[in-house]
Amino acid sequence: MKFFVDTADIDEIRDLATTGLLDGVTTNPSLIAKSGRDFLDVIAEICDIVDGPVSGEVTALDYEGMIKEGEVVLAIADNVALKVPLTVDGLKACKYFADKGRMVNVTLCFSAAQALLAAKAGASFISPFVGRHDDIGQDGMSLIEDIRTIYDNYDFKTEILVASVRHPIHVTDAARIGADVCTIPPKVIRQLSKHPLTDNGLAAFMDDWAKTGQTILK
Ligand code: E4P
Repeated sequence: MKFFVDTADIDEIRDLATTGLLDGVTTNPSLIAKSGRDFLDVIAEICDIVDGPVSGEVTALDYEGMIKEGEVVLAIADNVALKVPLTVDGLKACKYFADKGRMVNVTLCFSAAQALLAAKAGASFISPFVGRHDDIGQDGMSLIEDIRTIYDNYDFKTEILVASVRHPIHVTDAARIGADVCTIPPKVIRQLSKHPLTDNGLAAFMDDWAKTGQTILK
């Protein structure tokens, strides 16, 4: 499963890129607003750091506006994936850019039916939001299972990009189901490496090592 980081924070992206764990980046208008920076500058800077897909979202709600904005955003770099909302106009824009060979990430997906439409429109990625489903008392991960089944039934190539990830169990559940990508907030990526038994074991090893009085570097 590929790991994307869900942030527009350049320092976080630069730091996580050094781990070799990062396969791409997703942003959205809320994350851009949080960065306090110019949208196009941020996307360009991220594309310089990360070779994989970098999602930048249109803000127009109508087809013509999405096409105009999409041309600008996609001109930044070849690895930009244009993010469009799961609306009829968004699906039309998806088809337009997919037919031109560009990556499109269809976002704000909350049903298997919506995911089916995105695949038929030629999306490279479908972004189902699991955390926001959980927030309203529904099982976000069952949506991922349904989409996996439907895409496999028809051999759709659209990648399932699990979004709105809130904790490490979302990540391991997504991997168990066979999602293609998980986009993960930086804090959750760091949480994935944590286990109290790792910390305890390391502390015990260091205590015992200190008793030997040895050093590896002479
Ligand atoms: C990613 O593409 C989404 O925009 C993001 O995961 C949404 O996450 P949130 O529900 O935590 O805002």
